[in-house]
Amino acid sequence: MMFGTEPLSSPLQGELTPPGDKSISHRALILASLAKGQSYIDGLLDGEDVKATANACHQLGMTSFIEGPGLVVNGVGIDGLSAPQADLDMGNSGTAMRLLAGVLAAQPFNSTLIGDHSLSRRPMRRIVHPLSLMGARIETAESGTPPLLISGNSHLKGIDYASPVASAQLKSCLLLAGLNAAGRTQVSEPRKSRDHTEKMLPSFGVNVGPDCSVQGGSKLTAAEVRVPGDVSSATFFLVAAAMIPGSELMLRNVGLNDTRDGIVHVLEAMGANLRVENRRVYGEEAVGDILICFNGPLQGIDVPVEWIPALIDELPAIMALAAVSSGVTRIRGAEELRVKESDRIAVMAQGLGILGVKLKEFPDGIDIEGGKIGGGTVDGAGDHRCAMSFCILGQVADEPLSITGVENINTSYPGFVADLRRVGGCINP
Ligand code: S3P
Repeated sequence: MMFGTEPLSSPLQGELTPPGDKSISHRALILASLAKGQSYIDGLLDGEDVKATANACHQLGMTSFIEGPGLVVNGVGIDGLSAPQADLDMGNSGTAMRLLAGVLAAQPFNSTLIGDHSLSRRPMRRIVHPLSLMGARIETAESGTPPLLISGNSHLKGIDYASPVASAQLKSCLLLAGLNAAGRTQVSEPRKSRDHTEKMLPSFGVNVGPDCSVQGGSKLTAAEVRVPGDVSSATFFLVAAAMIPGSELMLRNVGLNDTRDGIVHVLEAMGANLRVENRRVYGEEAVGDILICFNGPLQGIDVPVEWIPALIDELPAIMALAAVSSGVTRIRGAEELRVKESDRIAVMAQGLGILGVKLKEFPDGIDIEGGKIGGGTVDGAGDHRCAMSFCILGQVADEPLSITGVENINTSYPGFVADLRRVGGCINP
């Protein structure tokens, strides 16, 4: 699948509400399934990744139906899940696979988690190792990649685990396993990753210690979850408005959890004109409305390494922005990008290089020198965030762009093309 873009002659203008937050949507479905009784989820993302989690939860016995603007989930309880009759297909979603692996490692039945071509190449030892320390029995392919063959074991024991990586998927996997393990499970990490699991568990009646710990044997009670708009999806429009002369966009109900809001800090540091209005708490999460107005070409920066976890998924869009900003933008400490849905450093470097951008790749980052963007064909490599980043860059290129490998945009932002057109962008499927 391929999209075409053409240079824009007029600015982007209007208002958008980004789709529901992907990370929070996965967690809402999983916790609602583990709670006994009816939970209600408002604003769930209707993307392919979240559908993979929903399908798996259905295979494990959860039922659900749409009511009004939300979804009613009939949860079966943490000890009420049924053995799946077939492999659980996580599609493109690392979050679905790693979080559900934590749940399933502590269940009495066997299960197998599989994924698409991209997910089947992603590292799973980072969860298999600590889960094994808890007593889980999980087999992977020889390379430590999916499928995950999980042998039933309802006798896990809690651990204190110092994670070598800042990964919310790993942290959440262990906390979910810990709910059904003997004793306490505690996770620390080198830098704080997104904390949606810790924020959501208390709504389901589970206490989370200040040291990021849960007590085994915790029972979940049904709850109501409100899912804010996804700041990672909003990012493409923030970056677009910052690049395209004369643009002015208002993005409503954007999640601004401080473990996710690094993009706002980067835009400010680069000189963007943006204002967060109406800051409020929505469910368990901070949200706000963001007004962004074009403010002339932005200035390249050294992205502070300590900001990386709070903007990890925004880095492809930041690379696109760097390509049209003055001077050099330096990104380091982002080696995790190499094991996302694609090797995002390599995919962005290749595409930007084709468009004539000067850059230097490093194992854990990239230097990008801003300049003019030419035309040509670039490959999103089946990675939703790289594909959307190139689509935005196409709006300010000097010539038409063709972007291949765009099909997985549906994993996180099925309405991306419609939204881009609605505010005046040019994109042709
Ligand atoms: C996610 C955590 C991050 C992020 C991913 C979603 C989550 O990955 O990149 O898109 O929902 O927990 P890691 O946990 O691997 O850092």
